[in-house]
Amino acid sequence: MRLRDKVAIVTGAGSGIGRASAIRFAQEGARVALGDVAEKPMKETLRLVNDAGGQGIVVKTDVTNASDVERMVQETLRLLGGLHVLLSNAGIYSGQDQRITDIEEEVFDQVIDVNLKGMFLCCKYALPVIARQGGGSAILVSSSAALVGTATTAYSTSKGGVLSLARSLARQFGERGVRVNAVLPGPIDTPIHENVRAAMGRPPGDRNLGKTPFAQRWGRPEEAASLMTFLASDESSYMTGAALTVDGGLTAV
Ligand SMILES: NC(=O)c1ccc[n+]([C@@H]2O[C@H](COP(=O)([O-])OP(=O)(O)OC[C@H]3O[C@@H](n4cnc5c(N)ncnc54)[C@H](O)[C@@H]3O)[C@@H](O)[C@H]2O)c1
Repeated sequence: MRLRDKVAIVTGAGSGIGRASAIRFAQEGARVALGDVAEKPMKETLRLVNDAGGQGIVVKTDVTNASDVERMVQETLRLLGGLHVLLSNAGIYSGQDQRITDIEEEVFDQVIDVNLKGMFLCCKYALPVIARQGGGSAILVSSSAALVGTATTAYSTSKGGVLSLARSLARQFGERGVRVNAVLPGPIDTPIHENVRAAMGRPPGDRNLGKTPFAQRWGRPEEAASLMTFLASDESSYMTGAALTVDGGLTAV
């Protein structure tokens, strides 16, 4: 029960890493507010949270929309009675993300909008509230693509931005008791990879993508959720402005 009495917002909670983290947070005692554009999968996550003995709410949220994000924060306060943790996780990978000579401007805008501006908005509305509630933890989901060059221009750019945003906010909120850290997942086995395959011209379902040189396998969403739980909890109380990989050694080669 490492998150007992804490309230956490998890964006992108309808799938993959967000879903696994929401369930894990609930198992550790947190009450969770689930924010996602996709309502049905988010409700399924809430069912899984409840099955695990946890409590939560769903708030349909498009993270690119400021009023949606503000409402998500207000509904969390109203219905769950506080806010201590933000897991800013919602993100997309476009199948049309390409080299800079080939990518359409609209695709670049769309990816930056969700992956970078979405995290900016979530932090803008949630972090001052966490500070007012006595402090807590924000976790921004970047990617190994922030550390190594990839040919998917928009995704790499967005995730590099997320890493810098986390460091900037760690500085801005340090004195106000809010720790801000970036998590950089490598190949975690989630639905996002169908678009990764499309962008890379690989066949649907291709399993080779996830083989890292060290671990020789995909990561599971639950393995990313373990790191999120540590960062959400007071066990990481001296950690802020950190960039932590969970990538099976991908970026260590
Ligand atoms: N899976 C990986 O290998 C991997 C690697 C590095 C980084 N990441 C990052 O981890 C995060 C989670 O990815 P995942 O693999 O679980 O993906 P996923 O596709 O399984 O889940 C992403 C969730 O975000 C939601 N979402 C998309 N746009 C949204 C919006 N505008 N507003 C609110 N919600 C929205 C989707 O509906 C979905 O439920 C993303 O930020 C992704 O970039 C994933």
